[in-house]
Amino acid sequence: MKYVLAPLADYTDAPFRLMCFEGGADMAYTEMVSAAALAHAHGPSERLLVMMPGEGPVGCQIFGSSESDVAAAARKVSGRGFSELNLNAGCPMKTVTRSGAGAKLLDDPAKIGRLLKAMKENTDLPVTLKTRLGPHPARTTVYDILGEAERAGASGISIHARYASQLHGGEVHLDELARVVETARIPVTGNGSVRTPREASGMSATGVSAIMIGRGALADPSIFRRLREGGDVAAPDGPSLCAKHLGYILKFREMLAARHPGERIPSPDAFASVKMHRHLFRYFGGLPGAAAMRARLNSVRTVAEIYDIITSYANGRHTQA
Ligand SMILES: Cc1cc2nc3c(=O)[nH]c(=O)nc-3n(C[C@H](O)[C@H](O)[C@H](O)COP(=O)(O)O)c2cc1C
Repeated sequence: MKYVLAPLADYTDAPFRLMCFEGGADMAYTEMVSAAALAHAHGPSERLLVMMPGEGPVGCQIFGSSESDVAAAARKVSGRGFSELNLNAGCPMKTVTRSGAGAKLLDDPAKIGRLLKAMKENTDLPVTLKTRLGPHPARTTVYDILGEAERAGASGISIHARYASQLHGGEVHLDELARVVETARIPVTGNGSVRTPREASGMSATGVSAIMIGRGALADPSIFRRLREGGDVAAPDGPSLCAKHLGYILKFREMLAARHPGERIPSPDAFASVKMHRHLFRYFGGLPGAAAMRARLNSVRTVAEIYDIITSYANGRHTQA
């Protein structure tokens, strides 16, 4: 079975993807990138297209609702080392749906077909789609979406086996996913709350050709290896994962500063503390003294402070916090 890191906005940047590749991921996706921003502007969105040495294959995910925007984005993304170009047709967040993109597209399979076609006509990369079962349980549109994707020449489809109305919780509809796999003529990747070998084998029983993991990778980027090996594998060593991750973040910042000399890249302290903030709780959560450390984890502002937290765990000083 192939294990794939899901696109996660604000998380699956190059340093985190690298952690996941080292943890056994077979493939990863960028955070979703706005096609409109790529089409009309330069700057921050382009930074999402930067990869680090050692990672790959990486698919670039875009979101958008205009054929001309996704076409321009497809041209911009081509030739940058990505293994595929993926369209987001499942994100239920208002910031994405209010412009007609993401989960809004679940109501209009024909439009998904037109967007995929526009992407295909403007890149040599394989074009794929990430979607859901439909807007809500009374409206399952995934079969029409699959047909549109196949006719547009998509090379694969990832399905989060929930409805948009469920957001990221509730039942994962594996039976429906199995029916989609039976119908599909292109490879189907299955997604939705897989964290344990048991959940992975439930997903695998649907016949999918790959399993996509999102939130399960956040606290444990080696989940991919753990699932592949099955059985009991030692729990991840949070503090040393954190040290490694911090090293990659600092290296990534240097790469950005070298590549975009005209842009204001935040200082190493600001860059690292913002990026690490999202991960610190998970790397230290559940460890002895973590609850007492909460305030400190919350107020981290410098690289030195993060290293101090890591070494205080290594030396047992955390219990005094
Ligand atoms: C914080 C967060 C950010 C996400 N960002 C994206 C995104 O950029 N593109 C996308 O297609 N899905 C996004 N998703 C959905 C995930 O890719 C995935 O489909 C969902 O989390 C279910 O998988 P999981 O249960 O393994 O996490 C996001 C989910 C979360 C929780």
